[in-house]
Amino acid sequence: MTSKTAKNNQDDLSRRVEAFRTVFPEFVIKDASGALRLDVERLKETFPISEKSEFIWPGKQKAVLESRLETAKKLRPWREESRDWDKTRNAYIEGDNLDFLKIARADLAGKVDLIYIDPPYNTGSETFVYRDDFSNSKQDVSSNWASMFYSRLLLARDFLKDSGAIFVSIDDHEYANAVKILDEAFGRENYVATIVWEMKREAKGIPPKSMCVSNHEYILCYSKNGSYRFIGDFRDVEDGFSNPDFDPRGPWKRQYLQRFGQGFREKTIVDPVTGRAYTFETPYTQEKLNRWVAEGRVIFPTPPYKYPARKEFFCEYANPYKPIVTSWGLFSTKVGSEKLKSLFDGKKVFDYSKPIDLLTTLLRRALRSDGLVMDFFAGSGTLGHAVMALNAEDGGSRQFILAQTPEPCGKKSVAYKLGYRDISAICRERLRRAGDLLLTEAADQNLDVGFRAYRIE
Ligand SMILES: C[S@@+](CC[C@H](N)C(=O)[O-])C[C@H]1O[C@@H](n2cnc3c(N)ncnc32)[C@H](O)[C@@H]1O
Repeated sequence: MTSKTAKNNQDDLSRRVEAFRTVFPEFVIKDASGALRLDVERLKETFPISEKSEFIWPGKQKAVLESRLETAKKLRPWREESRDWDKTRNAYIEGDNLDFLKIARADLAGKVDLIYIDPPYNTGSETFVYRDDFSNSKQDVSSNWASMFYSRLLLARDFLKDSGAIFVSIDDHEYANAVKILDEAFGRENYVATIVWEMKREAKGIPPKSMCVSNHEYILCYSKNGSYRFIGDFRDVEDGFSNPDFDPRGPWKRQYLQRFGQGFREKTIVDPVTGRAYTFETPYTQEKLNRWVAEGRVIFPTPPYKYPARKEFFCEYANPYKPIVTSWGLFSTKVGSEKLKSLFDGKKVFDYSKPIDLLTTLLRRALRSDGLVMDFFAGSGTLGHAVMALNAEDGGSRQFILAQTPEPCGKKSVAYKLGYRDISAICRERLRRAGDLLLTEAADQNLDVGFRAYRIE
């Protein structure tokens, strides 16, 4: 840190303490040099932190400080690396995401609908194109990773709209810590869901000692302030609805009326055609059951059915979407890698990109068709590709902002041999190639496949 930056940070801190004093004068004291500082002891006494609820690791305070230190760095437009600078609404930033988050916070605060990140998983692997080992020694295997993750999350929250949410990809290595750190940064009350998806169906290779291989990953979802809602899944007429009796009200679905062993009172309804009475335990009122019989929406049983059921009509769903479940099934990483390879003439330029289908599914289920999404661990740029691909498919106008550090490619890597010196270059090239491909197939030639590129200086 230069002495100028240190002075700026000190000035910033003094300003904040001064502002704090206007609201809470009792918690601000003067130190020996006459400078104002927070009375931390008094704060702790007044607002005791339950030991159970705070997750502590070595370096946590430093991570908080790091997120608060201002940066003197700036975003510089990088026109020659951009595509369609004058008309695109997408952005790409090359640089450390901590700097990016600090620089962009003022402009983008409260403007982002959805943040998706796929941080390094801290697997300890040194073979990836990008660094995936945050340990200095065996003991602090997680603390560096935790600090790296926490400082970014503290800043990221401000970018979200009040209705927004963050989605974080993670696997077993840091799942438990990621949950605790997200609880700290976003608040447990803002936890929404843990999505599970499978990367493969079979365990190949040498079996581990446990004889159990994990084949799934997680996407953790936290809302900014509790008001986030998934869009859901489009309700399809074929989704269990049919019209075998040509009911003029259209396709319907069979829903049972009885619930056994749940403590509901017995009610009786009578088949108006046969005069036969059916008695069963049900949560519905007698009045409602009689109305349904009169409206001809009760199906009286013919073998093999024993109890009456009710017709639920497709046309009566006011909401065209149905809730999703958290288990999303298979999105083969192998197929995902092949798709990325095919964009680069069959060459493997990046390890462990997310399958594009996983991210288009996420966008479809989690975001309006015109939302702004941000990924500050962009890697090979799968999220940007997914945004463009989904817009091409459904005519949406989603926008993306990606940030990726120019992490050098190993000299022995395929990427390096192909001329890509860092991951940022791979990401931009992937966006260009994906854009070209989408335009060859797109009905709308105005599809936004551009991005304004910036560098942090
Ligand atoms: C797991 S990869 C993301 C892969 C991406 N989802 C994809 O599908 O290609 C994590 C990425 O974060 C990048 N990264 C790590 N630390 C970073 C930082 N401080 N700032 C920006 N990017 C960073 C790494 O270089 C790596 O490319």
